[in-house]
Parts: sequence; C-alpha cells; structure tokens
Amino acid sequence: MKTLLNWLDDRTGFRSLMHEALYERVPGGARWRYVWGSTLVFTFVLQVITGFMMWTAYSPNTRGAWESVHYIQHDMLFGGVIRGMHHYAAQAMVVLMGIHLIQVVIDGAYRAPREINFWLGVVLMTIVLGLSLTGYLLPWDQKGYYATRVTTSIISATPLIGPEAQLLAQGGPRYGHLTLTRFFAMHAGLLPALLTGFLVLHIWCFRRHGLTVRDPDAAPETTFWPDQVLRDAVACLGVLAVVLLFAVFRGAELSAPADPVVRFDAARPEWYFLFLFRFLRFHAVESMGPAFGPIIVPGILMTILILMPLTAGQFGRPGHRLNQAFVWGMVAVMAVLTGMAWLEDRADPAHQAALAEAERDAHRAHELASGPHRIPPDGAMEMMRRDPFTQGPRLFDRHCKACHRWNGHNGRGLPVMERREVLSENGTSGQPPEYRSVIAAPTAADLGRFASRAWMRSVILDYSAHFAALKNAAWYRSAADSGEEDILDPDTSSMADWSGDAERLRSEDCRDEVDAIVEFLVQEAGHRGVRTDPVLVERGRAIAVDGDWDLGTACADCHSTVGQPFSASDVEADGAPTLAKYGSQEWLRDFIRHPDAARHYGDRNRMPAYGPEKLSDRDLDLLVRWMTGDYPETQVPDYPDLTGRDSD
Ligand code: HEC
Ligand code: HEC
Repeated sequence: MKTLLNWLDDRTGFRSLMHEALYERVPGGARWRYVWGSTLVFTFVLQVITGFMMWTAYSPNTRGAWESVHYIQHDMLFGGVIRGMHHYAAQAMVVLMGIHLIQVVIDGAYRAPREINFWLGVVLMTIVLGLSLTGYLLPWDQKGYYATRVTTSIISATPLIGPEAQLLAQGGPRYGHLTLTRFFAMHAGLLPALLTGFLVLHIWCFRRHGLTVRDPDAAPETTFWPDQVLRDAVACLGVLAVVLLFAVFRGAELSAPADPVVRFDAARPEWYFLFLFRFLRFHAVESMGPAFGPIIVPGILMTILILMPLTAGQFGRPGHRLNQAFVWGMVAVMAVLTGMAWLEDRADPAHQAALAEAERDAHRAHELASGPHRIPPDGAMEMMRRDPFTQGPRLFDRHCKACHRWNGHNGRGLPVMERREVLSENGTSGQPPEYRSVIAAPTAADLGRFASRAWMRSVILDYSAHFAALKNAAWYRSAADSGEEDILDPDTSSMADWSGDAERLRSEDCRDEVDAIVEFLVQEAGHRGVRTDPVLVERGRAIAVDGDWDLGTACADCHSTVGQPFSASDVEADGAPTLAKYGSQEWLRDFIRHPDAARHYGDRNRMPAYGPEKLSDRDLDLLVRWMTGDYPETQVPDYPDLTGRDSD
C-alpha cells in the first residue's frame, strides 16, 4: 500500500496538494461562523448527485415530463426521497446562501483585497437562483407551469431587449415544449457547469486571501484540519439531516399535470420569491409600469450590492456600516413582504379554495396515474381532461351555477356570490350606490343529490319545497305580479297537488309504498354504484305504473311514459314531463340539450337549452357522467355540503 501511494505521489504530487488543502492556517482558532461556505459546497454536491439520479428517469417533453416525474416520485426505488432531497436541498441552498452573504457582510469579508471574490459570490448567487427558477418548471405540473409562465412574461418587460429575451428564454413565441427543453438544458447543463467553474474560482480566491478573522487573538492559531474540518462536517451533516427529514416526512409536491386550458389560480412562486411577488402587487409599484417592479428595482438593489466593496473602500467604516444596514434592511423588508403575502393568502377564501382544488387535482391525478388504467398513451393532461370527476365541477361552475347549486356551492366548493346594492340608511340620493358581496339565492333546484333516494323522496312527498328555489327567479316574480298562470309553479302544479296529499303519503300507511316507489325510481336512474333491492323495485314499479296500492293513483296517470325505455320522441302527455328513465344518463343528456321539448317542460321551461355550440358533446358527456357518479372510484373527499341539511 505504502509503495503504491509513494508511486502515486511521485507521479501526481498529491501529498503536498492534500497538505496544502488541509493545513491552511486558521488564525484565531476554528469557528462555527466559518462553516457556511462548506455547507453550500456540500448541498451543491448533493444536488448534483440527486439530480443525476433523477435524470436517469426524467424525460423533458410536454407529454412525458409529468409522467416521468410521477414515476420517479412513486415507482422508482427511493425516488420519492431522492426527489424530496433535491427539492429541499435547493431551498436549503438559498437559505444558506443568504446566511453566507450576511456573514460576509457583517465580518467585512467583502472588503479589499477580497472584492473580486465577493463579486464571484454574487455571480454564484444569481446562478443558484437561476437553477431554482428553471428547476421549478421541469415537473411540468400546474404549479410550475403557471408560476414560470409569469416569470417568462416578466422577462418581456425588460427595457430594450425584453421581447428578444423572452423569445430566448421561452424558446420561441409560445410558452410550451421548447421552453421545457430549454429550461432543462439550462438546469442540467449550462448552469451547473457555470456554477462549478465559478465555484472553483471562488474557492481559489478564498484560499489566496484566507479567512477574514475579526479577532486573531481570540484563540491560538490552528489549521484547517482537524478542528475546522470537524465543524464543517458537523454542519454539513446537520444540513443533510434537515433535508432528509423534510424529504422523508413532507416530500416534494407534484401538482396535477400542466394544462394550458385549465387556469391555475393557486400559482405562487417558491416561498423565497414570495417577497418579490408581493412587492409587484402594490398599486404604487404596478402603476410605475411593467419594468419597474420586477426589473428596475431589483436591478438597483443588485447594483448597490455589487458596489458594496467600493462603498466601503471609499468611505471606510461609515461605508461598511451603511452596507451592513443595507443588508439587514433588505432582510427585514423581505421578511415583512413574505409575511404579508402569506397572511393575505391565508385570509383570502378564493385563494384557499384554489389551493384546495389544486390539492384535489393533484390527489386525483396520482390516483388515476397509479390506478388500473395507468397513464393513457396520449398523456397525463388528456387523462385529466377526460376525467368526469375533475371536469364535472368546473363545467357545473361555468354553465349551471347561475341558477342551480351543488350541495349549496358552485360545484367547486365555494358559495355563489352576487354584488348587491346596499341602500344607504337615510336614503339620500345623489350619492354613488354602494355594493356588497352577498351569497346569492339559487333560482333552481340544488343538484348535489340529483336522482338520489333523498331527491326522489322529496319530489314525491314535498314537491313545492323541493323546487321552492324557482320562486327566487325574476321570471317567477314578474309572472306572479302580472297574474300569468301557465308557468312552472312549484306551489300550484298538478304534481304539487298530488304530493300535496302529504299527510296521507307521509303517514305510516304509505311508508312501505313510498319506499318502494323511491327504490324503483332510483333503479330507473341507474346511477353508478347505487345498489337497489329487486323485490322493492318490482313493488315500486307496480305502484308507479299500474297504481297497484290503496291510493289507486299511479304516476303513469300523468307521466305516461314512466317505466318505459327512454325515447327522445315527443310524447304529448297531460302536461307532465316524461319520467322514462328519469335521472339516467340518457334522460339527462336529452334534458340538458332540450329542456324546452314537449317531453320535458315544453312551454313552461325556464332553463336555457344547451346545444352543442354552448356545451360540446364531450363536455356534456363529462358533466352527465359526473352527475351520475360514472367515473373511476376516488378517495378524494367531497367538498363540504354548505346547505346544512342532514347527510343522506
Ligand atoms: C338560467 C337558469 C338555469 C341554468 C343556467 C341551468 N338551469 Fe337547470 N333548471 C333551471 C330551471 C328553472 C329548472 C326547472 C325546470 C325547467 O324550467 O326546465 C331546471 C331544471 C333542471 C333539471 C331537472 C331537475 C328536475 O328533476 O326537475 C336538471 C337536471 C338541470 N336543470 C340541470 C342543469 C344543468 C346540468 C345545467 C348546466 C349545464 C343547468 N341545469 C343550467 C334553470 C337553469
Ligand atoms: C296529477 C298528475 C301527476 C301525478 C299523478 C304525478 N305527477 Fe309528477 N309531475 C306532474 C307535473 C305536471 C309535473 C311538472 C311540474 C309542473 O309542470 O309544474 C311533474 C313533475 C315531476 C317530476 C320532475 C320531473 C322533471 O322532469 O323535472 C318528477 C320527478 C315527478 N313528477 C315524479 C312523479 C312520481 C314519481 C309520481 C308518482 C309517484 C308522480 N310524479 C305523479 C304531474 C303528476
């Protein structure tokens, strides 16, 4: 062994190199405050290793990026931990960089003769921020996609070269596939190479001038090895432990696959850019034009930072004081702005709802991607676009919430609001009207339990109350005022008369019969996953179709098609809508397209007809399948019911 080492030393001179590296003088003794640089090198090495591991599975294209990251996260051996480490080590790097910078400024380590090294440090800092910015996009999930889209659009505000810079960053006029490949090339190629190069220069310069020691007489001089090396190693292990803890117990998020069409309102930059994000939202900042907040102000601050060594050189101690004050001031402002952004987001129900939806989508995307069908060949975005559970609530929100509600909300968990004029108290005119956001009253039935047992029971037993929301509609009130009679009136229709016999219907005598009718109707609707009792169904059919019970009346007396297969041909019944397969997918499709058909509400209809130009076949299909529970099973919890009624 010894001969071998001698042989090697003879050829390479590694012993003197090692000696030089390890026996660097440390005047004033080893100190904890010197560890920051080493921890930064350590986290960078960690990033290179974990980054390379992920590279073995990552695929930089818009069809495969999310899929490959999902694979890394959930299927690759230790993939979740590796990705988590990469994610949290990146954040650790930013934090450590901040500490390193503060420590350098406090100790005056940026002053002559170390100016160049300080500037190298600033370059390194910029590269690291560039790495985290480019890395955010790579999973091609909603969060990264929309946050980075904001960033690239900000670039276009740069004075003079804006549009060109944006083209360069985006890889073309459109934000898309080439943006991803370009960001990946930067993230895994150019930036790490630059970082390595500048790091070597940085360390070389550092070694040339040595540590900046505040008080060389504090302790006897030692050498780097072993005292300082030990402290550095402990600090690096500490960083590793924290990163590992976060990676194992929190893990890195993967939101739903990016979809340019599905707006993502929860988009926020990484937390360490939140201060800038908040700063840009001040009205005063916004009014100064698009370049002022994101480009000019940070540019000025960077310039002050870069000029620090010269400031201190020019003005001596007061200059150094000024620099320290600047750095602490920046830290304070950043902390306040970050806190503001965070608190405001927390107090904003719309943002919280967007976050909840993002989490829901992420959960669902993972559920589908790891479900029996895995990710389809046309990609994860299409997988989500085809999922009724994901799209139904959005379609309901877009098309139906103007009149209907879904368990009291807009389909996506939020109450439906409207702006209403507040009448001023003393009624003085001339003042501009004041508006307030209030919860809007629905003008049609809540469809959250459409065609469920509870729904059917309430239609039969309490028709007026079941459709009472219609009475909030403007058309109802104006018809009531003008005495118009042939309208849809939940209080006076013949259905109301029929179920107006509620006392009898609700009494013990009819309990079994009503249960049977409900069972029959639920069976006809045939929603996914609803089990029915065949004996009860047959009993219900006999009552509904043939009136085979004490009361003698049948639903078919008025709804002549009840119990028959659904057909879209208009049946002129006695003014009663068709109940053929009432509530089923075929019935729903037909109703939504033609609520004004004679087989439905005919002339009395008040619901807009959704033709294909308003609601495409695909969207209709998604909506109907969502309303009838026809989608792969989910563990994602329902939005809370806002109506306050008992659960069924
Ligand atoms: C402008 C208000 C309005 C909008 C928007 C609206 N509806 Fe309606 N809807 C009604 C009214 C009013 C009724 C009562 C029957 C009628 O007028 O046809 C109704 C009835 C229904 C019914 C039948 C309930 C029953 O058993 O009687 C269903 C199902 C329905 N709507 C679904 C939808 C869906 C799905 C959408 C969105 C694509 C939607 N509606 C949009 C007003 C509306
Ligand atoms: C006396 C005639 C009559 C009888 C009997 C009757 N209904 Fe109705 N029903 C109506 C009318 C009329 C409407 C439409 C309401 C309107 O026009 O105001 C209606 C509406 C309905 C609706 C809403 C349909 C839609 O398209 O939105 C359902 C569900 C319903 N009835 C179920 C039943 C069931 C179940 C029975 C038997 C247990 C029954 N009805 C018995 C007259 C009747």
